[in-house]
Amino acid sequence: MKKYASVHSVSLKGLSATRIVVESSIDTRSVYNDIEIIGLGDAAVKESKRRVRSALTHAGFPFPEGRIVVNLAPSDLKKEGSGFDLPIALSILKAAGQLEATEGNFYFLGELGLNGEMRRVRGVLPMVASLPHGSVVVVPRSNAGEASLVKNVVTYAFDHLKEVVAFLENQIHVDPIEPRNISGCIPVYDVDMSDVKGQQLAKRALEIAAAGGHNVLLIGSPGSGKTMLARRFPTILPPMGEEEILETTKIYSVAGLLPPDGILLERPFRSPHHTASTAALVGGGNDARPGEISLSHNGVLFLDEFPEFKRDVIEALREPMETGRITVARAKQSVSYPAVFTLIAAQNPCPCGWYGDSEHACTCSINDIKRYNRKISGPILDRIDIYVNVPRLTYEEYRSMNPGESSEKIRERVVEARLIQQKRFSETRVRTNARMNGKLLNKVITLDERSESLLKDAMKRFAMTGRAVEKVLKVARTIADLENSERLQYHHLMEALQYRMRSEELN
Ligand SMILES: Nc1ncnc2c1ncn2[C@@H]1O[C@H](COP(=O)(O)OP(=O)(O)OP(=O)(O)O)[C@@H](O)[C@H]1O
Ligand SMILES: [Mg+2]
Repeated sequence: MKKYASVHSVSLKGLSATRIVVESSIDTRSVYNDIEIIGLGDAAVKESKRRVRSALTHAGFPFPEGRIVVNLAPSDLKKEGSGFDLPIALSILKAAGQLEATEGNFYFLGELGLNGEMRRVRGVLPMVASLPHGSVVVVPRSNAGEASLVKNVVTYAFDHLKEVVAFLENQIHVDPIEPRNISGCIPVYDVDMSDVKGQQLAKRALEIAAAGGHNVLLIGSPGSGKTMLARRFPTILPPMGEEEILETTKIYSVAGLLPPDGILLERPFRSPHHTASTAALVGGGNDARPGEISLSHNGVLFLDEFPEFKRDVIEALREPMETGRITVARAKQSVSYPAVFTLIAAQNPCPCGWYGDSEHACTCSINDIKRYNRKISGPILDRIDIYVNVPRLTYEEYRSMNPGESSEKIRERVVEARLIQQKRFSETRVRTNARMNGKLLNKVITLDERSESLLKDAMKRFAMTGRAVEKVLKVARTIADLENSERLQYHHLMEALQYRMRSEELN
């Protein structure tokens, strides 16, 4: 005799989900007692049969006699991961007549332990968020936090396969998890800008960068506070909006990096080491996990010791910096993730670190210095809007007990400037001045005669490229926004130009 049943699940490629039918057919006349899984599953899916078999037995269900074929449809779509364990187990139980039929709008996700325990799977948030309104989804308890961010879908969370079956058979009553409201949630950081003494120019530059979404290069001698400043940059950024929280949490869900409560309120701060491979930055591997570039989405990518990064790693930044997305190429397909981040790069001015210091002698030759700085290619430097020197603190600055401005104070000004930009770009998809395209820039920025000739002189004198000039104008616009000035004025442009200067020897 042949028995048949099916249940629904979801499969993920990058951040986009597809609904899957998991069907089981049992040939009870066969002398083989076996499970075969078909439908383009990866190694984890193939191993599922072992886990499912053991889990069913431990949960107290006699394993059906006969040959079982499990098909994951559509069969031409590759399926990855361990999340199909639960739907496979349930479809077998249904086909064997050990579980009553469930309604059509149920979806199941979850890995099973050998003892039947439900285990966390990656990508639950993007999968649940893709389901039609009114769907009912069953997930492992450890995924409940992220699933609770999706409204319009009813989610039940369980610890064990046995409980899922008892629930579906109406033997136990379980309440769905409460949808979580994240609007107005403010992240709490354990560092603050007021921890950094002195460095007024660098702090000002970071405030401008936060206000307009600009990339920054911090140049300074060892121990001057570059890493300290960069770490505090997220604290002066506006809190993420609901949409941003969802976007970022989805990426961390796919990467399997969510905190236990399953939600990311703080803007990401990622600081990959300079020995990191291109794959670690861009993303990759068999399952095309997001790399550091996507994990920085809506936050900060901090590249400390910038010239020490491999050239192809730095070059890989070009695409996402331009488009806000990164493509992870795999054997036969490619996956794309969002990657809108602020780049904060830091470097010493020279290999020994002391070039330009008034007290400490630099031991590098001019050629050493040039070679060191040439490691960062022109096109990448061109994409950085603000260069700022971070000099060694003086004794007076270091010993000063005067706390600087708090992150909260700075953030208030940043938020105001962002609101102005929001209004300005309300009819476009642009969020910040830094992401204006050339056309928008021409529309938004008009220069008076004096500013026009200042720009003309600077362009000639410093051999600035067209892109560099655009950067200056965008930064100038942000400086004007911080002053709530509708008109872009001469002193805004002067300040913006100052952030493009690198000393001659560094070029
Ligand atoms: N401006 C500062 N205010 C307060 N403390 C500072 C400041 N600058 C440096 N320090 C102290 O020195 C330590 C080292 O600073 P940090 O790591 O930020 O230096 P850095 O510029 O990144 O150096 P390197 O070039 O070696 O990476 C900090 O942890 C802090 O204790
Ligand atoms: Mg450092």
